[in-house]
Amino acid sequence: MPGMPIPSDHPLLLRIVDDLAEHGWSQQELFVPQDLTLALAAECRLRHAQGELAPAAVGRGPSQEIREGIRGDRIQWIETGEAASCDRYMTIMDSLREALNRGLFLGLEDFECHFALYPPGSVYLRHLDRFRDDDRRMVSAVLYLNDADWSEEDGGQLRMYLQGDTAYDVQPMGGTLVVFLSGEVPHEVMPAQRNRLSLTGWFRRRGNEPF
Ligand code: OGA
Ligand code: MN
Repeated sequence: MPGMPIPSDHPLLLRIVDDLAEHGWSQQELFVPQDLTLALAAECRLRHAQGELAPAAVGRGPSQEIREGIRGDRIQWIETGEAASCDRYMTIMDSLREALNRGLFLGLEDFECHFALYPPGSVYLRHLDRFRDDDRRMVSAVLYLNDADWSEEDGGQLRMYLQGDTAYDVQPMGGTLVVFLSGEVPHEVMPAQRNRLSLTGWFRRRGNEPF
């Protein structure tokens, strides 16, 4: 069972839509039920233990390369039908996709996401979630999967650069979801003292297909 769909006019989803319209980003603590956060965290750890997470690359297409100084996370893309927890999350994100389309007319077609694990000390330097040759990514959504005892001293903040280049830090607490416009909010991942876990994804619109 993929889990109960939530209606796209759920107050939590509408709040995210309003935040994005007003500010270009949104942060929600306890976005998903805690049992789902725990199940996703266990799934991420299991895949890591089985050696399924691989170093993430920078760029796209032929210019793609692994450069740990720029981006040090290890990732695995998620497919439906692999784990009940992932399917449940995808169902929730599909409701968010519908809510975004209704409220902001973004024409979002799908949601792609991957588990990410940043080993201690690794970072992702300041960037935008847009590729020069592929502008389908419209909205980024990161769900953190760290334990409840994660503290500020553990680091690993997501640093977003908002209007006027003001830095705003999100603590990567398990269950927190941060959503932002992919092409408009520069951001970076600060180094952490421990393995930092997340489920990172993008809502995409249809690409410009050649005739
Ligand atoms: C990314 C990214 C942010 C985070 O994967 O593009 O910016 O907090 N992740 O993990
Ligand atoms: Mn990013």
